Amino acid sequence: MASPSSPPSKTFQGWVAHDATTPLTFTSFEPKPFTSTDVEIKVSHCGICGTDIHTLRSGWGPADYPCVVGHEIIGTVERVGSDVSTLASSAASRAIRVGDRVGIGAQSNSCLRADCEACADGQESYCTRMTGTYNGRYADKSKSYGGFATHWRGPAHFVFRIPDTLPSAEAAPLLCGGVTVYAPLRKHGAGPGKTVGVVGIGGLGHLGILFARALGADRVVAISRSSSKRADAVQGLGADAFIATAEDKGWAKTYSRTLDIVLSTVDAPDMPLAQYLRLLKRDGTFVQVGAPERPLPPLTAWSLIQKSVKVTGSNIGSPDDIRSMLQLAAEKRVLPWIQKRPMEDVNAALADMDAGKARYRYVLQNGEAQAKL
Ligand SMILES: NC(=O)c1ccc[n+]([C@@H]2O[C@H](COP(=O)([O-])OP(=O)(O)OC[C@H]3O[C@@H](n4cnc5c(N)ncnc54)[C@H](OP(=O)(O)O)[C@@H]3O)[C@@H](O)[C@H]2O)c1
Ligand SMILES: [Zn+2]
Ligand SMILES: [Zn+2]
Repeated sequence: MASPSSPPSKTFQGWVAHDATTPLTFTSFEPKPFTSTDVEIKVSHCGICGTDIHTLRSGWGPADYPCVVGHEIIGTVERVGSDVSTLASSAASRAIRVGDRVGIGAQSNSCLRADCEACADGQESYCTRMTGTYNGRYADKSKSYGGFATHWRGPAHFVFRIPDTLPSAEAAPLLCGGVTVYAPLRKHGAGPGKTVGVVGIGGLGHLGILFARALGADRVVAISRSSSKRADAVQGLGADAFIATAEDKGWAKTYSRTLDIVLSTVDAPDMPLAQYLRLLKRDGTFVQVGAPERPLPPLTAWSLIQKSVKVTGSNIGSPDDIRSMLQLAAEKRVLPWIQKRPMEDVNAALADMDAGKARYRYVLQNGEAQAKL
């Protein structure tokens, strides 16, 4: 472990992407300069999120290579900046100490200025000056690097202590996948009296079912393309019903006007969007969190007009959402279904994730954590 008095290392080691097609290689990279409001951790675990795949292949636009992805990070604090214990922006982050088990999600910074509408409202994930945990830049122009690495360094404001009862490997996917489904479910009132549909039963989607149930929704409907995930969704994750859109004839009519909220984690553009909207009750809300690389299908005006439905989106979650989500996960034992892989297998794990083989999240493990596999 680094002693607080030794100067911060200028280089880290991790799985670096050099372009959109060649495999990641384990090599050194230069993290941001360590500042007095930063924390540095030794990474034990990192989940693989769909966003890692989009970014690595420059699917949303050219990525800023060299790039180290991974934003479902768990590790142990090795260094705490001298101003963290009095951090003005976050009372919770003031408590971070060397040796703590912490997590970092998809966001590593925002402007935190009083004149920023998003930051002042505690909605940091909507700050126009936000820094993603990877493929981003901090205010000093240094690059942000993610968790497919031995170490991570960044602002304490976006570092979260992990409740003792959550195992590290299971906690990792909560940091992005978990909060990305929890935040819109919380915001749009998923809970007693509400029926919720979750479309796309992958990393985010399986967590959507678990969190809708943990929030007390009356009824949770899993919506997938085929019936191959039916048993997992109903018997395992606790969905009340299951729709296989490519197999169940007339599904949109059968389930028309049955759901208050539909949360879509679908990450491909060829989705039956108009049919998903048919599932909504009057005044219902459709929330898109999946981020396809091409535009969504067109909609007729009537699909919105007829039932006064709302179509919206949601970007990860705020630090407050992350803390509240972790607390609920600890209380209600919301544990993602994971498959652990050694960090060295990252290229094979990424290929399997891209092929849709994860059930339902791969979590990469480093060093000692890996020895326990
Ligand atoms: N908004 C945010 O802040 C945020 C945060 C994190 C991730 N994301 C995005 O969310 C998306 C999902 O991420 P993930 O990690 O959950 O990926 P994932 O594990 O691969 O899950 C995506 C799911 O989408 C469904 N799907 C795929 N192609 C489809 C198609 N053509 N039509 C209908 N459904 C299809 C599949 O479910 P079935 O097999 O059940 O059909 C698949 O399991 C990605 O685009 C990612 O970038 C957004
Ligand atoms: Zn993510
Ligand atoms: Zn801001």
